[in-house]
Amino acid sequence: MSKERILVTSALPYANGPIHLGHLSGAYLPADIFVRYHRSKGSDIIYVCGSDEHGVPITITADKENVAPKVIIDRFHEANKKSFERFGMSFDIYSRTSLPVHHKTARTFFSNFFDAGLLKEKKSFHFYDEKVKMFLPDRYVEGTCPKCGYEEARSDECEKCGALYDPSELVNPKSKISGDTPILKETSHWYFPLGDFQKRLEQYINENNKKFNWKENVLQYCRGWFKDGLKDRAVTRDLDWGIKVPLENAEGKVIYVWFEAVLGYISATKDLFNNNGDEEGWRNYWQNPDTRYIAFIGKDNTVFHTIIFPAMLLAWNDNNSDKYILPENVPANEFLNFEGKKFSKSRGWGIDVSEFLDLFPADSLRYTLASNLPENKDTDFYWKEFQAKNNSELADILGNFINRTFTFAHKHFDGEVPYAGNYSELDNLMINELKSYPRKVGSLIESYKIKDAVLEMMNLARAANKYFNDSKPWETLKTDKEKCAVCINLSLQTIYTLAFIFEPVTPFISEKLLKMLNVVSRVNWFESGNLNLQPGHKLNKPEILFNKIEDDKIEAQINKLGKTENGESEMELIDYEDFSRIDLRIARIINAEIIPKSDKLLKIQVETDKETRQIVAGIAKHYSPDELKGRKIIIVSNLKPAKLFGHESNGMLLAVETDNGDLKVIEPDVNASIGSKVK
Ligand code: MF3
Ligand code: ZN
Repeated sequence: MSKERILVTSALPYANGPIHLGHLSGAYLPADIFVRYHRSKGSDIIYVCGSDEHGVPITITADKENVAPKVIIDRFHEANKKSFERFGMSFDIYSRTSLPVHHKTARTFFSNFFDAGLLKEKKSFHFYDEKVKMFLPDRYVEGTCPKCGYEEARSDECEKCGALYDPSELVNPKSKISGDTPILKETSHWYFPLGDFQKRLEQYINENNKKFNWKENVLQYCRGWFKDGLKDRAVTRDLDWGIKVPLENAEGKVIYVWFEAVLGYISATKDLFNNNGDEEGWRNYWQNPDTRYIAFIGKDNTVFHTIIFPAMLLAWNDNNSDKYILPENVPANEFLNFEGKKFSKSRGWGIDVSEFLDLFPADSLRYTLASNLPENKDTDFYWKEFQAKNNSELADILGNFINRTFTFAHKHFDGEVPYAGNYSELDNLMINELKSYPRKVGSLIESYKIKDAVLEMMNLARAANKYFNDSKPWETLKTDKEKCAVCINLSLQTIYTLAFIFEPVTPFISEKLLKMLNVVSRVNWFESGNLNLQPGHKLNKPEILFNKIEDDKIEAQINKLGKTENGESEMELIDYEDFSRIDLRIARIINAEIIPKSDKLLKIQVETDKETRQIVAGIAKHYSPDELKGRKIIIVSNLKPAKLFGHESNGMLLAVETDNGDLKVIEPDVNASIGSKVK
């Protein structure tokens, strides 16, 4: 039987920010589990990924920090590569789209399409910010989706409903740079005739779905686009960061980031083989019809991987003799949320991978995320659930079984695999159980049911504990040592199997286990359920595999939620304009009285240079009316009038909660007469 050849890619993350847990659950961990399993079963598989280093997200971050984009991509490429490594991602290469090999690949595709007459130059109207004098890339424009009414839609694409539309259809557009309403200004771009590929794309998806059973969520997205009808797409942008359009008269234009980023998978593969001195090696994966290609992504990337990228490959294949394969499957995941909300760096909601791994082991995170992957619907990460997965499953079920088996073997069998004589019915059941697991877990992974696969892995550990309990080796040790030996032998064999079937999810633990078992050469995945350890085989000393996570460590993380780096709570930023609408004035309190039946409110008369007005303020617990008279304070003078406890209130006074919980009105210690404006 010849080896299966498989190419696996995960979406190339933008190198403009750190990787967080949501990314891992979407496109990386499931792929890594798939790849590790296939390596273990002996498939010829490569796994490529890298940084997506062009496009607006990078320029936004660079602008914010007032540095060149190169500074940003270098920083986050290195940081993300490191985080992935610590998390145990087993990429064969983590490349980057700023490399010459990628620029060349992208330009070649572009020129090839141009030469074949596929790309049409069209003048069209794009959003232009007159204040900052630039064309606004999609993400710099926000408005209301013409299809579903979502108010934070981008200029040509809605994150909420997935609609793609013409920028002119966007309702109520706003520039994210200046806040102004942008105008639509004419510019010229090259368009890829996506519409011409619709029939073939539908056919491609139908056929692959029939053969490889695509996920329902992915099919639904695709059907939506097909129903709307695919339209020509501009594949250039007015921007100076990116891959220059390889044509004359294309000053200031770059290839649209999505049009080149997907080609980054090909470039990354070239990079991998070039590094090994095999310049043509990549072709065996991308251009061999026997190769299976699986593209792992998060749901927001679906259209680019099921429609646009395949269309580009079809277009290439139409015009060239070297022909690319298309993805056999695109198992997109939904989103992972964090404690009930979307991840948000600015609101301090969520945690970066590197921060997480400074505190907790990678395998505990991998196991928790893998048991709760957003395969069919959005799921949540909860700190308490993480603690429970680690303590009650990894430590109490898996760890406990390994621990009691090793302790027994070292204490009563000289740290060797004991000889197993006659098997009882119970033993035979366990032996059959062991045999069944690699196939059971494997077929779930092959059909992208990773969550179920993880459940099965832990089920073997559960079965193992039960077997140990039912066999009572602590009793047979005294009554029937041969029987006891069988139990410990089979328990050690089970640990061997566990080390294998858990490896895709908990590779660090598995490595330790194989070391403890003193296993040097590995068998194939499918043989890992056999009795692989010979009697007399010497074991190594056990290592600590799991530490319980204490409550206070989890509480500390929960308390940090919603606070930004400097410890402040979630804060919404306002524009200067918003602030300037508030009219603050110096005023003097001329009278104050208690409002009967309210223990909080005081009715206060204040004067400015022009008038006297009444303000109702909730400071009765902190001041007596007499204490207030004569104080110079600051009021908000243009607040809409309101009625509190039946008393009219015209404005508000400024007060602050002191460190010991007292409320104090703010008394400006300056020489300014009443009525002066505070700015
Ligand atoms: N950088 C994109 C994102 O983070 C994903 C790009 S996937 C690629 O959403 F295929 F285009 F590379
Ligand atoms: Zn929408």
